[in-house]
Amino acid sequence: MWESDADLLARVDKDKMPRHVAIIMDGNGRWANCRGLLRSAGHTAGVKTLKKILKTAVNLKLEALTVYAFSTENWKRPPSEVDFLMHLFSEYLEREKLEMHANNVRIKFLGRTEDFAPSLQKLIRDSVELMKNNTGVKFNVAADYGGQDEIIRAAQKLACRVKRGELSPEDISAKLFEEELDTAGQPPVDLMIRTSGDLRVSNFLLWQAAYAEFWFTDTPWPEFTPEEFIDALIDFGKRSRRFGALNN
Ligand code: IPE
Ligand code: IPE
Ligand code: MG
Repeated sequence: MWESDADLLARVDKDKMPRHVAIIMDGNGRWANCRGLLRSAGHTAGVKTLKKILKTAVNLKLEALTVYAFSTENWKRPPSEVDFLMHLFSEYLEREKLEMHANNVRIKFLGRTEDFAPSLQKLIRDSVELMKNNTGVKFNVAADYGGQDEIIRAAQKLACRVKRGELSPEDISAKLFEEELDTAGQPPVDLMIRTSGDLRVSNFLLWQAAYAEFWFTDTPWPEFTPEEFIDALIDFGKRSRRFGALNN
C-alpha cells in the first residue's frame, strides 16, 4: 500500500469532501521554459506530480479523480512534442499499472484514443482490464479527449438507437444522455482544479462540470503538491452549493 500522510489527511473534513474532482494539469511547458529546460522536461516533472496526487486521492478515499492528459486540440502541437507525450503515457502506464492495481485503483480512459499507436492502445486496454474489478478510486485519464467531441459521440450513439427504432426522440433525457458519455455511471464533477494561472475550461468535461465548483491556482502543475490539493478540498468544503435553489 502507498504510505499515507496522516497529518495532511486529517485536515480534511470527510463529510465535506467532493465525490468527483477533475484536474486540468496545466503549465508543464511554461514551468520548464522558466528554468531553461525543454518543454519535455516539464511533462516528465508533471508525471511525478500526478503520481503524488493520485496517491493522496487514494489515501483520502476519493470516489473519482479525472485528469486532463491530452486534449483533442493538443494534436495541433509540434509532432515532436506529441510524440514525446505519447511515449510518456506508455512509460507511465507500463511503470505504474501494477502499483495502481495494488492500491485498488480502477483506471478508465475518457476520449477517443483510436488515433494512438496500436501499442499504446493495447496498454490502455490491458490496464483497464487489469483494474476493472477494483473498488477504490475511479481514476479517469482524459486522453485525446474533448468535451464537445464526447457530447457529439453521445449524440451520434443516441441517433443510431433512434434510427434502429429502439428509442423515440422524446425518450432522450439527461439521464439517457449521461449513459452514453465516457463517464457513464460516475458522479458529476464537484470540484474542477486548474493549475498555472489560466482561467478557462479548455473543452474539459463540459457536460459533467455543469455545477462544478472551480478552483484556480497560479502554481504550475510540476510544482502542485498534495498540500495544495488538500487546500482546494478544504476550500470546496466552505462553498455554498445552491444548484439554482435558495439556501434555507
Ligand atoms: C499541460 O501543460 C500538459 C498538456 C497539455 C499535455 P502544457 O504543455 O499545456 O504547458 P503550458 O501550458 O504550455 O505551460
Ligand atoms: C488543457 O491545457 C489540456 C491539458 C491540460 C491536457 P492546454 O494547455 O492544452 O489548454 P489551452 O491551450 O491553454 O487552452
Ligand atoms: Mg497549457
